[in-house]
Amino acid sequence: MSRLKRLLTEPAKRPQLILWCGVVLTVLAAFVAVSTIGTSVNWFCTGPCHIVHDDNTMTFEKSSHVMLSCVACHEPVNASPLTFVLKKLEVLPDAFPTIFKTFELPMNENHSLAFEMPDEQCTQCHNLENRTVTTSPGIIMNHGVHANEGVSCTSCHNRVAHPEEDVEYVLEGDRKHEDWMVMDACFRCHSLEAGALAPGECAKCHPADFDLVPASHYEPGWYQEFGESGGHAAAASEETSRVASAAQWAAGFDEVKHRETLDMGYERSVNTCFTCHAKQFCTDCHGIEMPHPEGFATDHGAAGTQNPQACARCHARSANEAEGKIFCNACHHPQSTPDKTWIQTHFEVVKIDGAQPCFECHNPRYCSACHVGGPEAAARYVQENAGK
Ligand code: HEC
Ligand code: HEC
Ligand code: HEC
Ligand code: HEC
Ligand code: HEC
Ligand code: HEC
Ligand code: HEC
Ligand code: HEC
Ligand code: HEC
Ligand code: HEC
Ligand code: HEC
Repeated sequence: MSRLKRLLTEPAKRPQLILWCGVVLTVLAAFVAVSTIGTSVNWFCTGPCHIVHDDNTMTFEKSSHVMLSCVACHEPVNASPLTFVLKKLEVLPDAFPTIFKTFELPMNENHSLAFEMPDEQCTQCHNLENRTVTTSPGIIMNHGVHANEGVSCTSCHNRVAHPEEDVEYVLEGDRKHEDWMVMDACFRCHSLEAGALAPGECAKCHPADFDLVPASHYEPGWYQEFGESGGHAAAASEETSRVASAAQWAAGFDEVKHRETLDMGYERSVNTCFTCHAKQFCTDCHGIEMPHPEGFATDHGAAGTQNPQACARCHARSANEAEGKIFCNACHHPQSTPDKTWIQTHFEVVKIDGAQPCFECHNPRYCSACHVGGPEAAARYVQENAGK
C-alpha cells in the first residue's frame, strides 16, 4: 500500500493529514497573494507585458498621474479580494496574444475604456465638491451641471493619464486617439442648433474678453468682400469630406456600452464649422443653396434676374458690380473692368478687337436695337429674342 493511501485512510495518520492540508493551503494562499499583488504593480503591466504596453507606458510617463499605479484606474475601486482575483482571471486570455505577439492594434480605438470607466475611479482621489477648479484662461467650466446629467469624468478627461501630444508610437499599427478636452469634443453634446442637448452660445464657455475668431480666419483669402473668398470655401469642402470619412470610421465599431445617459458620438464626426456657426449663418450670406444645382451653368439667367444681390455677393468683383445685374458682366464680358459698367466700356473693346467676337452670343440686331432705339429698345429686343 502506498504511503499516500495510508495517509488518507488510516485514522492514526489523521493529524499528519491535517498538517499537510494546512501546508498546501498556506502555499496556495501565498501564491494567490503574491501573484495578485505581483500582477498589480506597474512593473507587471509594463515589464513582462512590455511590447504590448510600450506605447501606453510611454504616454503614461508624460502624464500628471505618473506617480500612480495602473490599477488605481484600471481595476475596480475597493474591490473585495475575490473580485480582484476574478478580474485577474478575466484578463487571463490576453496572456496568449501578449506572449505570441498576436495582439490587435490600434488598441482601444473606439474608446470603450473611456466610455465605460466609472467615476469612482477618479473620485476616490478627486473630490470636486471641495476643490475649486482652476480652468485655463478663457475657458468657463461647470462640473456640477455635468455630474447632475450623469456625464462621466472620462467623457472629457479621457487622455488624462495617457496624453499623446509629444509622443511617437513605436508599435506598428498603433494610432493616436481623440482627445475630448477640445472644443469640438464639447460639441458632441453642445450645439448652436435648436433642440440641442446642451447650449452652444460662446458666452456659456468663454468670458467676454476672449477672442472668438480662430487663426484660420485671419489668413489672406479666407473671406474678402468682392475679393478672394476661396479660403473658407476650400476649408468648408475639406471639412465636409473629412466628416464623411469619419462617419464611415465610426460606423465600423460595434456599439460601445455607454455609461452615459446622453447620446454622444465621436469628436471626429463633429463638423468644426458648425461648432461656431449655425448653418443659417452660411445660407444667410450665400443667399441661395450651394453648391449650384446641376445644369446651372447653362440655365441661370432667370435665377440671376430674380435674386441678383445673392449672385453679386459671390460673383461681383466690386461694389460697383454688385448693383443690379452688372455682375453678369464679370463672366460674360471678361474684358470688362470692375470699376466701370460694361455700357461705359464695351465700345473700347469693340474698337480694338472688332465686333466679330461679340456675335458669338449676340445677334447684330441686339447692338443696333440699343444704338438706334436706346436701352428700352434693347430690353425689348432681349425679351423678344431671349438674349441672342
Ligand atoms: C488616472 C487613471 C489611469 C491610470 C493611472 C492609468 N490609466 Fe490607462 N487609461 C485610462 C483611461 C481613462 C483610458 C481610456 C482612454 C480613452 O479611451 O481615450 C486608458 C487607456 C489605457 C489603454 C488603452 C490604450 C489607450 O491609450 O487608450 C491601455 C493599454 C492602458 N490605459 C494601460 C495603462 C497602463 C499600462 C497604466 C500604468 C502604466 C495605465 N494605463 C494607467 C486611465 C488610466
Ligand atoms: C490615486 C489617486 C488618483 C486617481 C485614481 C486619479 N487622480 Fe487625477 N490626480 C491625482 C493627483 C495626485 C494629481 C496631481 C495634483 C492635483 O492636481 O490634484 C492629479 C491631477 C489630475 C488633474 C489635473 C492635471 C491634469 O493632467 O490635467 C486632472 C484633470 C485629473 N487628475 C483627473 C483625473 C481623472 C479624470 C481621473 C479618473 C480617470 C483621475 N484623475 C484619477 C490623483 C489621482
Ligand atoms: C464635460 C466635460 C468635463 C467633465 C464631465 C469633467 N470635467 Fe474636469 N474639467 C473639464 C474642463 C474643461 C476643465 C478645465 C481644464 C482647463 O481649462 O485646462 C476641467 C478641470 C478639471 C480639474 C482641474 C485641473 C486643474 O488643473 O486644476 C480636475 C481635477 C478635474 N477637472 C477633474 C474631474 C473629475 C474628477 C471629473 C468627474 C467627476 C470631471 N473632471 C468631469 C471638463 C470636464
Ligand atoms: C456628454 C455630453 C456633454 C459633453 C461632452 C459636454 N457637455 Fe457641457 N453640458 C452638457 C449638458 C447636458 C449640460 C446642461 C444643459 C442644460 O442645463 O440645459 C451642459 C452644460 C454645460 C455648461 C453650463 C452651461 C450654462 O447653461 O451655464 C458648461 C459651462 C459646459 N457644459 C461646458 C462644457 C465644456 C467646456 C465641455 C467640453 C470640454 C462640455 N461641456 C462637454 C453636456 C455635455
Ligand atoms: C461647451 C463649451 C464651449 C462653447 C459653447 C464654445 N466653446 Fe470655444 N472652446 C471651448 C474649449 C474647451 C476650448 C479650448 C480647447 C480647444 O482649444 O479646443 C475652446 C477654444 C476656442 C477657441 C480657441 C481655439 C481655436 O480653435 O482657435 C476659439 C477661437 C473658440 N473657442 C471660439 C468659440 C466661439 C466663437 C464660440 C461660440 C460660437 C465658442 N467657442 C463656444 C469650449 C466651448
Ligand atoms: C472657433 C470658432 C470658429 C470656427 C471653428 C469657425 N469659425 Fe467662421 N467665424 C468665427 C467667428 C467668431 C466669426 C466672426 C463672426 C461675426 O462677425 O459675426 C467668423 C466668421 C466667418 C465668416 C465671415 C467672414 C469673416 O471672416 O468674418 C466666414 C465666411 C466663416 N466664418 C466661415 C467658416 C467656415 C467655412 C468654417 C469651417 C471651415 C468656420 N468658419 C469655422 C468663428 C469660427
Ligand atoms: C460673408 C459671406 C459668407 C459667409 C458668412 C459664408 N460664405 Fe461661403 N461663400 C461666400 C463667397 C463670396 C463664396 C465664393 C467664393 C469664391 O469662389 O471666391 C462662397 C463660397 C462657398 C463655397 C464654395 C461653393 C462651391 O460650389 O464651390 C462653400 C462650400 C462655402 N462657401 C461654404 C460656406 C460655409 C460652410 C459657411 C458657413 C460656415 C460659409 N460658406 C459662410 C461667402 C460667404
Ligand atoms: C456663395 C457664393 C455664390 C453665390 C451666391 C452664387 N454663386 Fe455662382 N458660383 C460660385 C462658385 C464658387 C462657382 C464655381 C464653382 C461651381 O461651379 O460650383 C460658381 C459658378 C457659377 C456659374 C458657372 C460658371 C462656369 O464657368 O461654369 C454660373 C453660371 C453661376 N455661378 C451663376 C450664378 C448666379 C446666376 C447666381 C445667383 C442666382 C450665383 N451664381 C450665385 C459661387 C456662387
Ligand atoms: C459665374 C459666371 C457667370 C455669371 C455670373 C453669369 N453667367 Fe450667364 N453664362 C455663363 C456661362 C459660362 C455661359 C455659357 C453656358 C454654356 O452655354 O455652356 C452663360 C450663358 C448665359 C446665357 C445663355 C444661355 C444659353 O441659352 O446658351 C444667358 C442668357 C445668360 N448666361 C444670362 C446671364 C445673366 C442675365 C446673368 C446675370 C444675372 C448671368 N448670365 C451671369 C456664366 C455666367
Ligand atoms: C459669351 C456670350 C457673350 C459674348 C461673347 C458677348 N456678350 Fe454681351 N451679353 C451677353 C449676355 C448673356 C448679356 C446679358 C443679356 C441680358 O441682359 O439678358 C449681354 C449683355 C450685353 C450688353 C448689355 C449690358 C447691360 O449692362 O445692359 C452689351 C452692351 C453687350 N452685351 C455688349 C457686348 C459686346 C460689345 C461684346 C463683344 C465685345 C459682347 N457683348 C460679347 C453675352 C455675351
Ligand atoms: C444697352 C444698350 C447697348 C447695347 C445693347 C449695345 N451698345 Fe454699343 N453703345 C451704347 C451706348 C450708350 C454707347 C455710347 C457710349 C458712350 O458714348 O458713353 C455705345 C457705343 C458703342 C460704340 C462706340 C460708337 C462710337 O460712335 O464711338 C460701339 C463701337 C459700340 N457701342 C458697339 C456695340 C456692339 C458691337 C454691340 C453689340 C454686340 C453694342 N454696342 C451693344 C449702348 C449699347
